[in-house]
Amino acid sequence: MQILLTGKNGQVGFELQRALAPLGHIVAVDQFDCDLSNQNALRRLVREVAPDIIVNAAAYTAVDKAESDADKAFAINAVAPGVLGEEAARLGALVVHYSTDYVFDGAKQTCYTEDDLPNPQSVYGKSKLVGDKALLQSIEACLIFRTSWVFGAHGNNFAKTMLKLAVERESLNIVADQFGAPTSAALIADVTAQIVGRYQRQGQMDFPCGLYNLVAGGETSWCDFAKTVIAAAHQAGKPLKLKAENIRPITTAEYPLPASRPANSRLDTRKIRETFGLCLPVWQEGLNHVLQEIL
Ligand SMILES: NC(=O)c1ccc[n+]([C@@H]2O[C@H](COP(=O)([O-])OP(=O)(O)OC[C@H]3O[C@@H](n4cnc5c(N)ncnc54)[C@H](OP(=O)(O)O)[C@@H]3O)[C@@H](O)[C@H]2O)c1
Repeated sequence: MQILLTGKNGQVGFELQRALAPLGHIVAVDQFDCDLSNQNALRRLVREVAPDIIVNAAAYTAVDKAESDADKAFAINAVAPGVLGEEAARLGALVVHYSTDYVFDGAKQTCYTEDDLPNPQSVYGKSKLVGDKALLQSIEACLIFRTSWVFGAHGNNFAKTMLKLAVERESLNIVADQFGAPTSAALIADVTAQIVGRYQRQGQMDFPCGLYNLVAGGETSWCDFAKTVIAAAHQAGKPLKLKAENIRPITTAEYPLPASRPANSRLDTRKIRETFGLCLPVWQEGLNHVLQEIL
């Protein structure tokens, strides 16, 4: 089984190299091996590797930068998934891809399901939504995992930024009116591998392909997430200036950023849990694993 993995150095891509290893031979690429904004190079890569499975963990994820770099964000997030779908369809391959909570405007009061109508408010969210649709239109054999608030030991993320700031700062103001589930890259990779393994055993016929929300259990705000990270770091004996009680809640309006973020990023995971018989651990479990690795 030949697996083509893009974005190998990203948070999710890094974990996928580990999780997918038992399933086949992985050809893992970064943007220097193949720039996803170059359609011809991407088609050439897929034809050369001739994979049975393509896992696309690459994306333009600089949410604020995307506001002034829309062409690049769309080339990578909106166009490339459709190109991968077209090439995979020629080969009879499966495509696995990742979507985001940023496709929603966040106005819904309860968790978003896969059937809720997206209404992205940022260039990043718009580009990712076009990519989801392009993939779904180009190939039936695809799995899209929609996730949120990704963190991991490898790569840049909110939890690691908090730990860095906590070395120098005695207090921090963090947004407390956006809610979601911090989801570890390892969980995303492990669930991906579990479902891809099942696809390998079961085959394409009648496999429940399509879009699935995939986030850890529970929910929190960025402010409480930060407090949990810093409290755990103190408990692990890390010498930090910042104490959890000195992380102060602020509103989104008090911390303006170029890209608008959804106030409600909560995703309903019933579909993936029931379809594949999965149990998704609470986000604190993933955080503990990551902190054990990096502290
Ligand atoms: N991070 C989140 O909070 C979050 C939330 C919801 C959904 N998602 C989705 O989850 C997936 C994985 O995200 P992640 O957090 O693992 O992202 P990440 O850590 O930012 O990794 C993205 C990867 O894409 C690569 N990349 C960027 N531009 C490229 C290009 N032109 N050609 C080829 N590769 C390129 C990057 O390469 P370099 O390392 O060389 O820059 C990086 O390895 C993405 O689809 C993302 O949209 C993420």
